[in-house]
Amino acid sequence: MLELSAVVAAYGAVRAVDGVSMAVPAGTLTAVLGANGAGKTSLLRTISGLVTPRSGSIRFDDTDIAGVAPDRIARMGLVHVPEHGGVITELTVRENLRLGGLWRRDKADRAAALGEVLDLFPPLAVRLAAQASTLSGGERQMLAIGRALMSRPRMLLLDEPSLGLAPLVTAQIMRVLRRLREDRGLTVLLVEQNARSALSVAEHAYVLALGRVVVDAPAHSITAEALHDVYLGAT
Ligand SMILES: Nc1ncnc2c1ncn2[C@@H]1O[C@H](COP(=O)(O)OP(=O)(O)O)[C@@H](O)[C@H]1O
Ligand SMILES: [Mg+2]
Repeated sequence: MLELSAVVAAYGAVRAVDGVSMAVPAGTLTAVLGANGAGKTSLLRTISGLVTPRSGSIRFDDTDIAGVAPDRIARMGLVHVPEHGGVITELTVRENLRLGGLWRRDKADRAAALGEVLDLFPPLAVRLAAQASTLSGGERQMLAIGRALMSRPRMLLLDEPSLGLAPLVTAQIMRVLRRLREDRGLTVLLVEQNARSALSVAEHAYVLALGRVVVDAPAHSITAEALHDVYLGAT
């Protein structure tokens, strides 16, 4: 469904993404792991159109989306949940969710999407009228993912949804991701520093170091030692 070939993205002289090739088949959950500064966020920003690649191709279904504007990419069904979620704290939970479904004209469809999101994330259902600034970190991440789901995406790009969350809350988020893939066939590219959590739900994983893919393997085959080396920069 998503295929990158030799993608390069840079900020001035810094090549944050340095020739990345990867494939995410439809209906699968793929993890991208790597230490702080490895280029994970830059990779997602390049896929979603926020950063224009210097070279390489990015295909979503049968369209080359390299250099396409972010709002057009989102409307194609490829939706990015940024690091920290990007929730608008001045708005209520309900208003944030409405923003996610705004461009869908069909009101009945929007109501159905809202019902599904609240079913996936029960804590949000009881906080609909609350200002988003009053949410816990976990609830905020749920809201960020819920907002993305309001547009009924075909594929989600998630940037470190477990960042700063307690292990139990992280596990809850991972369970929802698994359910989205199993029940709805949603395709997910999950960026995480938290390798253990990501590998518990992913089928395949890539590990980035200095903007390059250093491991490309089935999730179950990636050992703690291999990750240890990568995170310590030994590869
Ligand atoms: N806006 C930016 N301008 C310049 N350099 C950046 C910018 N964003 C990230 N970088 C650099 O790109 C590299 C990769 O960063 P990033 O993609 O944020 O990694 P990660 O998400 O894996 O922590 C780092 O060296 C970082 O300092
Ligand atoms: Mg990052």
